[in-house]
Parts: sequence; structure tokens; C-alpha cells
Amino acid sequence: MKDTSFAIHPGTKKTIDNDSYYDIGNLIAMKNDDKIIRFTCEQGYVNIKYYRDDIVRITMNPYQEPLMESTFAVVLDSEDVSISVTDKEDEVILKSSKLTTIVKKAPFRITVLDQDGKILVEETKRGMGYNDKKEVICFKSMDEADHFYGFGEKTSFLDKRGEKMTMFNSDVYAPHNPETDPLYQSIPYFMTLRDGRAHGIYFDNSYKTTFDLKTNKDTYSFSAEGGQLDYYVLAGPTPKDVLEQYTALTGRMPIPPKWAIGYHQSRYSYETEQEVRELVKTFLDKEIPLDVVYLDIHYMNGYRVFTFDNSRFPSIDKLVKDMKDVGIRIVPIVDPGVKEDPEYHIFQEGVREDHFCKYIDGKIYYGDVWPGNSAFPDFINSEVRKWWGEKHRFYSELGIEGIWNDMNEPAVFNETKTMDLKVIHDKDGELKTHREMHNMYGFMMGEATYQGMKKLLKGKRPFLLTRAGFAGIQRYAAVWTGDNRSFWEHLAMAIPMCLNLGVSGVAFSGTDVGGFAHDCNGELLARWTQVGAFTPFFRNHTVIDSVRQEPWAFGEEYGEIIKKYIQLRYIWLPHLYKLFVETSRTGLPVMRPLFMEYPDDKNTFNLSDQFMIGDNVIIAPILQPNTYHRVVYLPEGKWYDYWTDESIEGGKHILVEAELDKLPIFVREGSIITHGPVKQSTMVPADEIIVHLYPKQSGVIEYTLYDDDGETFSYQNGEYLEKKITCDLSDDRIDVAIEDVVANYQPTWKKMVLKVHDTTSKLNVFVNQQKVAEDQISFDEETKVSSITLK
Ligand code: GLC
Repeated sequence: MKDTSFAIHPGTKKTIDNDSYYDIGNLIAMKNDDKIIRFTCEQGYVNIKYYRDDIVRITMNPYQEPLMESTFAVVLDSEDVSISVTDKEDEVILKSSKLTTIVKKAPFRITVLDQDGKILVEETKRGMGYNDKKEVICFKSMDEADHFYGFGEKTSFLDKRGEKMTMFNSDVYAPHNPETDPLYQSIPYFMTLRDGRAHGIYFDNSYKTTFDLKTNKDTYSFSAEGGQLDYYVLAGPTPKDVLEQYTALTGRMPIPPKWAIGYHQSRYSYETEQEVRELVKTFLDKEIPLDVVYLDIHYMNGYRVFTFDNSRFPSIDKLVKDMKDVGIRIVPIVDPGVKEDPEYHIFQEGVREDHFCKYIDGKIYYGDVWPGNSAFPDFINSEVRKWWGEKHRFYSELGIEGIWNDMNEPAVFNETKTMDLKVIHDKDGELKTHREMHNMYGFMMGEATYQGMKKLLKGKRPFLLTRAGFAGIQRYAAVWTGDNRSFWEHLAMAIPMCLNLGVSGVAFSGTDVGGFAHDCNGELLARWTQVGAFTPFFRNHTVIDSVRQEPWAFGEEYGEIIKKYIQLRYIWLPHLYKLFVETSRTGLPVMRPLFMEYPDDKNTFNLSDQFMIGDNVIIAPILQPNTYHRVVYLPEGKWYDYWTDESIEGGKHILVEAELDKLPIFVREGSIITHGPVKQSTMVPADEIIVHLYPKQSGVIEYTLYDDDGETFSYQNGEYLEKKITCDLSDDRIDVAIEDVVANYQPTWKKMVLKVHDTTSKLNVFVNQQKVAEDQISFDEETKVSSITLK
């Protein structure tokens, strides 16, 4: 019915933000109780607790004192923050060194200010409240200057001002239109940028939540269908600070294995062992780099997870091994639905050991998915998670190190598209409805899978790809944006979607390159591969019965361009890997919106068709057919065209030519980026590292190079290499200092080549104050690049 005009029937629902709303009322009593300030109001209870100087938690429960539990998303233990509490006649002031919370008593209204006294979050006419349906809501003032980012995986443009968005993990095969919402991931978090400063709000509620930045001109709201109003204000003041704070709260990505940041090839499905072998042979014959091949649902016996169809894959162990011998990993899909089949060991075990989701009366919940009628493991239970994790021994014993979780919203083939909301989960003794736990399901499947694989791989880093998730999913998995289509519009949308995922802590994201549904074509695949080469997750995937979508599928002309950009990904790997390492330490995304680096520049606020890699590279792809030029915005400062070394003054929009084989890339002056050689897979050892230096007028340029074994957790014991490179360039002389900050890993490369761009003549080079011999230095008249070879 919802796809007919019935959807706009006039007998519409009353929503929480109209007449059924109860305000929390006036303050009645307050007590300062072991770091939690507890407020009793006329119609509800509020707790305020500082987690850090720059993170404050506000919790409202209409019916009882708030519970100070959290969802699975929160991993931060509160620090011992020193706060002052001043109780005045009409307000209470709670102050840490970075955040001030002012509580007005009548009516009860909260204002949060930063250390300079600037208002971050303010309640005016309306504050916190609830309705008869037990929905909770709060309203905050919206400044004219506010821009909003984050909200996880959403369609449409970068800046979400003027949008209303819902968080409820949903399998959306129907087109991802600008208004299609919700999608597979729920991340109830956003960042506000106002006059160059940023702050964040994370709403820790697993029910269906709604963020409304649309209905009222000067107020935004967030609400939940149940539970408490429980949110954290993150102080900023820069966008980067907000990400550091948000990822301190919800966790950071471990460093992925190097192979996971190579190129991945998928199709629904490579159906047989023979097909996989032929596919890989073509990659090798054509010398197109490749690290991963995916096995979609056809590999299984009747879509039973933890099985192989022996007629399609007669010697899977040999296949996995042969592939690894040529540097390629096999990653199989694992969905949550377990086929109801009394002769199938996983189903038997699940029933006998009580691992499946059930109704309150004890009956197992069954839903229809690929295998037909299926039961669903209760991932909300830690024993079930352990069981499921351990089951992956089936894959790890074959040498498999990566898993692809899909359909974990969970998707069910019925009217509601998901599990019955009345199903009960056993949260280690506490009974929780699916209504409350729905958004947790895929997230906890991710936890089960990642932790299980981590244990089984005995020190090796697992890789997990997931479709569904919640705030904090970055701790376990990379995210791809689900079933997009082979439309130019979806290529364009890939950018703001991945950027907002990055702003939401999920740095390891990407789209199905070439588009999943519908049919791709050569031009679209070429342009999409150019973008994919710089999205953190880089996988070409397409649906059953679509035209072939491998790099060579559309003929030689396109094939060569696609190959060039897959190779470019491998050339950039040392730099990308370093940025992934930074993400694991700070939460800052590899692929980031320009406003993150230029928060004062209004040209960046809704810039949805270009992005940055790290803090100094701009990628400005072509996103339309038959288009060979575009406008690019370059912020203030000097920029270098990556391909020609032409230097361009920024602070303006420029027109850039881009034939089909050109992806416009710009590097900021005063930057260093590192490159490696083109190779067939990440497993081929690199013998040299190339350090590209783009000079600036004056001053030193710094870069910290990182490397480790790329596949184990030894880095956590300090086994890595960190080299600080400092360059001081003046006229015809460069002084380079190379300092081993950490030298507990011996890289495969022995040779370092320093390429100094935009030089006028051969340079005199000093490394750690020693003059470098003439024969190690060369100068290319044409490109104006000085190369210095250091052994
Ligand atoms: C879902 C996934 C898609 C996969 C298909 C078959 O549609 O999103 O990536 O190929 O299921 O498993």
C-alpha cells in the first residue's frame, strides 16, 4: 500500500512535534551525586554528566530517574572531570574547562556553551519533552549560519540543513533517490558548523530516531520512538576536534590489512570455481592489479551459510590457496538468515543451543530470505555472538581472512522488509524487543564476525565488509553503501554519501563501483573507477543478470583507462595507508569534505562534487556523461595540478579540462605525498618509495611516513616504522632531515627517491647535514622535477 496514493491519505498521523507533546516543565529539585547532577522536573528527570572536559552527556527520562546505561555504541569510560556547580536563583551552571552547561529552572531549558562562551546548543521556546506514545524529543535553536553534516549513510547533498532524516536500518533495493530514507546504516550523530567553528551531538538511542532540520525555520529537533533522550554534546571547536571526540566516544577503526585497501572485484555472482579462476587469470594476463575476489550467495549449498556448493566449488581450499599464491584473497558473503532445515548442522545447533531470535512465548521467529524460510541468530546475546564468531572457523581453516556481511538490517522478504518488531532479544538476561534492538542487529553481527575472525586468525588482521550498522560500526567493519544503480546520478551521490559517512566516524567506506543494479557502460565505469580509486573502499560489484562489469568488459579504450586508475590506486597506497593509520589514531577520515580543512570558507559548506584525501589533496572528478571539463573550487593558497605540475593560485573557481582518461587532482603547495610502484597486488613487495615534495614559498615541509607488515597486529606492540621527513627548500638547495621516530619494522623498500617538483635547476642536496653526491641527483628540464635517490 505504501507505494500507492494511500501514502498521502488525509487521515494522517499526529506526530510528536505537534499537539500531543508534553514539556518537561519546571525544575523541582537538584542533587549533585557522584559526578552526576540529577534534576527532578515537573514532568521528567534529567541527568547531566561530564565524560571529558569537552564531552557532556544529557539524559532525560519522563518516568523515572534516567538509567545511565548506554547502547553498544559507546566505548568511552568517563574521565574524572573537574566541574564547578553554581546554583543561582533562576539557573544552575555546570562548568568544565571546555564546556559550560547552563540549566534554566523555569521552564527547564539547557544551553551548552564552549570555553569562549559561545552558544553551541540552546533550548528556547521548547526544550525536552515526550508524548503519550512514549516518544521522546528535544528542540534546539538553529542559527542562520548553521550547516549540518554526518547522520551516517544518507542520500542527497553534503549539507543536511533542510532535511528530515530517520534512522532505521533498511534494505533499500528500490532506487536511492535524494529523498530515499532511511538506508542500511543508522548513525544518530551530526556535526554542526557555525561561523567556522564546529560542535557535535551524538544521540545514543537505538530505537527508530528522527532528526528534523526541515520543519521549523529556526529550530531543529531529534526524537526517538522509545527509550530515553540520551545525548552527548561534543565541544569541537574545529570539525577535526569533533571527530576526535565522537570517535573517542564510539571507537575507532583498527588499521585494516593492506590487502583490504587494494582493488576488489565482485559480481552477484562468480558462480563457479572455474569462473573465479578465469576471472583472476584475465586480471593477471592484462596486468590489472587485484587483491580481492568476492563470492556472492551462489557459492553456498542452497544459500546455507557456512557451506559450499561442492559441485560449483569442488576444491575451495585449493582455490583459496592458489589465489593467495598470486596475491589474491577470497572473501565470501555471510548473511544472518539460517535456513530452516532440520538436516542442516547450523540450524540444528542454533535450535538446540537456543541461539535464534524468538517471540515472547518461546517460538522461533522465521522470515523469508535467500534460502527460504530462515531463523536469525540473536546477535544481541553475547553467547550467540561467540557461537557465530567461532563458526567462522569453517572459513578461516580454508585460509579465508575476510568476510562480507549482507542482509543484516536484517532484511526479510515481507511487507515490512524486516523482522517482526515484537520479536524478543535476550540481551544477556534482559529482554528487549526488536523495536528497540533493530538498529543494533547488523552492528552486533559485525562484532560477532570481527571478533570471531580475529581470534581464529591468530594475530592476523581480519577484514569485514558490512551493509548494516550503527554508530561505532567502524570498530569492526568497512561499509559499502548497498544497492546503488548504474546511474550517473548515483556516481555523483557517492561523494557526499561517503563524505558524510567519514564525518560519522566510518572512514572505511565506498560504493559499488560501476553501480549495482541496472547496466553500466564503458564511460560510466571509467569515471566511476576514477572516483573509486580514491574512495577508501574500492570494489566493483554488480547485480545478477546485469551486463558484465569487469574492467575490460566495455572494450579496450575504456579498459585501458580503468586499468590506469586501478594502477593509480596502487601507486598511492603508501600515502593512503598512512592516512588509514591516522584514522585509526584520531578518527579523521581518509576521504574528507573540504570544509574539514577550510571551515571558514563558505564555498566548501555544501561542496558535494569534490573531496580531499588527507589534508592536502583535492580530487575533482567528472560526474556527467560526455563531459570533458568542469568547474573546480580551489581554496586559498597555491595548488599544483598533479598531472602537469602547473601551479594555480587558489581562492577561486577554475575551469579544468578532463578528457576521459583524466581525473583532476590537485596538491596543495608545501605538501608531501608518498607513492609506490604499480604492482599486481598489495602482496608484491615494493622495492622503493617515492616521496613527492610540492614546494612552498618559505618554511619547512614535514611528513611522517608510516609502514608496518600490513597484515598482523604487531603494530600494536610498537612493531612499525615511522620516519619523520623534514625538508627546507631555498633557491637551489634543499636540506632534508630524516629521523626514525619508531624503527621497529624493516620495510621491503631499500631505496627512497625524493622528487622535488617545480624546481628551476639541479638542487644541492643535504640529508641530515651530509651533502648528497652529484650522481644521486638529477634534474628533468622538461618537468622541472629534481630527483634525489637515497639508499
Ligand atoms: C544484496 C546486496 C548485494 C548482493 C545481493 C546478493 O542485494 O546488497 O550486494 O550482491 O544481495 O547477495
